[in-house]
Amino acid sequence: MKKIRKCIFPVAGLGTRFLPATKATPKEMLPIVDKPLIQFAVEEAIEAGITEMIFVTGRTKRAIEDHFDKAYELETELALKNKNDLLDMLKAVLPNGVNCIYIRQAEPLGLGHAVGCAASVVDDEPFAVILADDLVDGKPGALKQMIEVAHKYGGSVLGVEDVPRDRTHQYGIVSSTKVDERTEKLTAIVEKPKPDVAPSTLAVVGRYVLTPKVFELIGAVKAGAVGEIQLTDAISALLAYEPVFAHRFTGTRYDCGSKIGYLKATVDLARRHPEVGADFTAYLQETMNQGKP
Ligand code: G1P
Repeated sequence: MKKIRKCIFPVAGLGTRFLPATKATPKEMLPIVDKPLIQFAVEEAIEAGITEMIFVTGRTKRAIEDHFDKAYELETELALKNKNDLLDMLKAVLPNGVNCIYIRQAEPLGLGHAVGCAASVVDDEPFAVILADDLVDGKPGALKQMIEVAHKYGGSVLGVEDVPRDRTHQYGIVSSTKVDERTEKLTAIVEKPKPDVAPSTLAVVGRYVLTPKVFELIGAVKAGAVGEIQLTDAISALLAYEPVFAHRFTGTRYDCGSKIGYLKATVDLARRHPEVGADFTAYLQETMNQGKP
């Protein structure tokens, strides 16, 4: 398999679960303490060797472009005030050699459609997809682990984890046979099956390494679950041509598309934050001991 250099970040979703916070701000810019979700995703991609970041954006997403752009005024101001640590931190948001490409998805027609919007930019290369609202806290990062699996077994790889059966209707769910301790080979995949018909509880969680063949198949996908053009349906069609693997990466995954997942990520990462971690942990203990509601 060719080197994987490109990653698609579909960021055109409406973020309705976080309204009103996401009325004028993309949900991917919601911070975990002080770092936006999209930056965690881009850092994971950089660690995995990705150099081309392809954002599929929509309305109200300009903040993402600004975030990864050079902030001249801010940098000049910080330099004048000798705030070098902050300056270095800002410059590290997008290291040298990493490029950002923005594509507009005019209508939110589904994840498959969003990924398909990047077809001409990705061209004939294998590529990654990261859904930034699935935050994975792991070392090495989830994508790096998955790219190793893609090279080892030669095929597409989906990041998966087991979910409670009563949640299968929120995910792409796979049927598979075991390849190694953490890797499975797909026999089928279905989008958002109800718990009683779900073929398993192994769910796709916002990480994909895919071959370019999938673009051709996305083009033929009709609106499926929840009336959208689903990436899952294109992956299902891909199974007729190429092997697709599912990998249980190591690390903790937070569903930051839900309020409770976002809060869990915030609490866990805040407790380890270099600046506020100790104080915040002490505060949590104090407030729990007092049995505050
Ligand atoms: C999307 C995918 C689904 C996947 C999920 C992971 O669903 O369509 O297959 O399991 O992301 O978060 P969404 O969360 O956009 O409904």
